[in-house]
Amino acid sequence: MIETKNSTRRVTMISSISEMKEVSQSIQKQNLTIGLVPTMGCLHEGHLSLIKRSLESCDKTVVSIFVNPTQFGPNEDLDSYPRPLESDIEKLDEMGVDILFHPSKEEMYPTGYKTFVEIKNITEQLCGKSRPDLFQGVATIVLKLFNIIQPQNAFFGEKDWQQLAVIENLVKDLNLDVAIIRVPLVRESDGLAMSSRNRYLSVQERQSALSLSRTLQKAQDQIRQGITSAKTINNLIQKRLLETEGAKIDYISICDPVNFKEKEQIRGRTLIALAVKIGPSRLIDNCIIEEI
Ligand code: PAF
Repeated sequence: MIETKNSTRRVTMISSISEMKEVSQSIQKQNLTIGLVPTMGCLHEGHLSLIKRSLESCDKTVVSIFVNPTQFGPNEDLDSYPRPLESDIEKLDEMGVDILFHPSKEEMYPTGYKTFVEIKNITEQLCGKSRPDLFQGVATIVLKLFNIIQPQNAFFGEKDWQQLAVIENLVKDLNLDVAIIRVPLVRESDGLAMSSRNRYLSVQERQSALSLSRTLQKAQDQIRQGITSAKTINNLIQKRLLETEGAKIDYISICDPVNFKEKEQIRGRTLIALAVKIGPSRLIDNCIIEEI
């Protein structure tokens, strides 16, 4: 356990796997439930909504903060990913989180580490297309966290829709005893989806970033008015994003929300998902069109 200078600190900080396992086992022995909120830190309201759900429904809440190197590609932002640990701890303290699990890279991936989890068929599209390492890294670290912490419930945000699908399949296919709780995406008051990467944006870029949620809103309006052609909606989204200063489209997908197959007609439950690079940040956003 890490000694802290702050005597008012209530959250227990654990950085070793063996200690985390011991603490989890002793919680289970008391017949108490554990809720896990896995994060990479730089906590925002989106994370806090996951933590709130865990605090409400589980006896003990563990938040993990670990910037997982295996889910970043070679030219991605691993080194510059924000790591404001002290302010994260303050937030966890304020909320009454029981345990912060904050292992080092060496603890999670010691020299000689060899094992990775591969999930097929739902990881080749959307974010997995331009970030081929992403979901293998996510599935691997999440499985490790589940094995170490043994939570009954784990909380994930719907902003990372495809990540949630990957984790749900991981749990189902590998018969894991953990319930995955989906928590809706949280937006800033002007509509921007909360993301740790928003803090890279300049004032101008942040203005451009609003284009993602506004375009999704516009697409939903058009669909409500009766347009069902995915191509027409895709063209509308593309046009609006191309008009946005500094925006580079990674993907626009109008697809099935479970298997991510592209749709020609917007019928049945449909996911519209976007990834757009604005300045240094690659931003994602999505919305669900319920059955029409
Ligand atoms: O969503 C995230 O922050 C990460 O992908 C996760 C689930 C914590 C795994 O590193």
